[in-house]
Amino acid sequence: MKHKKLFIPGPVEVSEEVLKVLSTPMIGHRSSEYSALQESVTKKLQQMMYTQNPIILSASSGTGLMEMAIRCTTVKRAIVFAMGAFGKRWYEIAVGNGIPADKHEVEWGQPITPDIVEQYLSTGKYDVATITHNETSTGVMNNLEELAPVFQKYPDVVWCMDTVSSLGGVKIEVDKIGVDVCVSSSQKALGLPPGLSLASVSAKAKERAAKVGTRGYYFDMLLLLKYIEERKFQYPSTPVIPHIFALDFQMDRILKETPEGRFKRHEELAALVQNWARKHFKMFANEKYASKTVTCIENTTGFSVKDLNTELGNRGFMISNGYGSLKEKTFRIAHMADLQKADVQELLGEIEDILKLS
Ligand SMILES: Cc1ncc(COP(=O)(O)O)c(C=O)c1O
Repeated sequence: MKHKKLFIPGPVEVSEEVLKVLSTPMIGHRSSEYSALQESVTKKLQQMMYTQNPIILSASSGTGLMEMAIRCTTVKRAIVFAMGAFGKRWYEIAVGNGIPADKHEVEWGQPITPDIVEQYLSTGKYDVATITHNETSTGVMNNLEELAPVFQKYPDVVWCMDTVSSLGGVKIEVDKIGVDVCVSSSQKALGLPPGLSLASVSAKAKERAAKVGTRGYYFDMLLLLKYIEERKFQYPSTPVIPHIFALDFQMDRILKETPEGRFKRHEELAALVQNWARKHFKMFANEKYASKTVTCIENTTGFSVKDLNTELGNRGFMISNGYGSLKEKTFRIAHMADLQKADVQELLGEIEDILKLS
């Protein structure tokens, strides 16, 4: 099967070097060698996430640790701030776990504003708030500098944030802004295959978890932390060792590029795609909050996104259709992980050629 270079918002294109590291011979997960590996990855992630908090590495995709976050920290009631499909997922997780929760949904394409957060947190009804940093379905990225002061005003509220499609591509200063549980997945801006998720967990979130009666088993935050703290960087069940080898290697590459350099590259790629979108179509997202990792573009000319993708596939590329009800009305181009300017320029050139854009 001919490989299609992926410009979809996960899974992303994974470098040859990282793919090779995935086939490293296995080590025992209770060995000191394994602990050293997990510790090494943790230190590197802490550097990129600007945090001192412990980091859970889970053998699940990001949704698993989203479930851990909301389930293990809600005693009273959670408020879910949703601006698209993945925001709504937090609410579905809460409902599925019998967690009392409310949802505030904004129009797709719009961000969550500080006023909205203030409106809910000021009621005193909630002890958990969840938010999506970068909404992959709409290409909207919330502004954390605007939002953080509101969350900081309410220290009794545990702030859980989904950074699945932004961590590794956008600067997220976890400790400075005060995110309690910051969740992400391997298959997006970090540039690995799917199958591993990670979360930093604050002392506040841990204290809260101790007050939650039923935390489940696989995603019991306290059990996961216990294996990091008491068993010195281990995991309660068998960890996804190939991915952890690959993440350790990829983190070296990220730190070599430098986090700042990587974030700047993502900004440049985003600007390139956004300018192209404005020239030929229209941005779907509120421009002020346009994502730095994925651009959602309005299909203003009514071409078939499905047919475009078929032809792109023949040429060795793949983009994404719009999400859910936005299918065919929008299309999405991801510009994350290890993609370079030349990769994106090549893709845009192919689209121009197929759609005869000038
Ligand atoms: C913003 C966002 N949140 C959550 C998820 C779910 O992550 P996972 O598929 O790793 O469970 C996704 C997946 O695309 C996403 O884009």
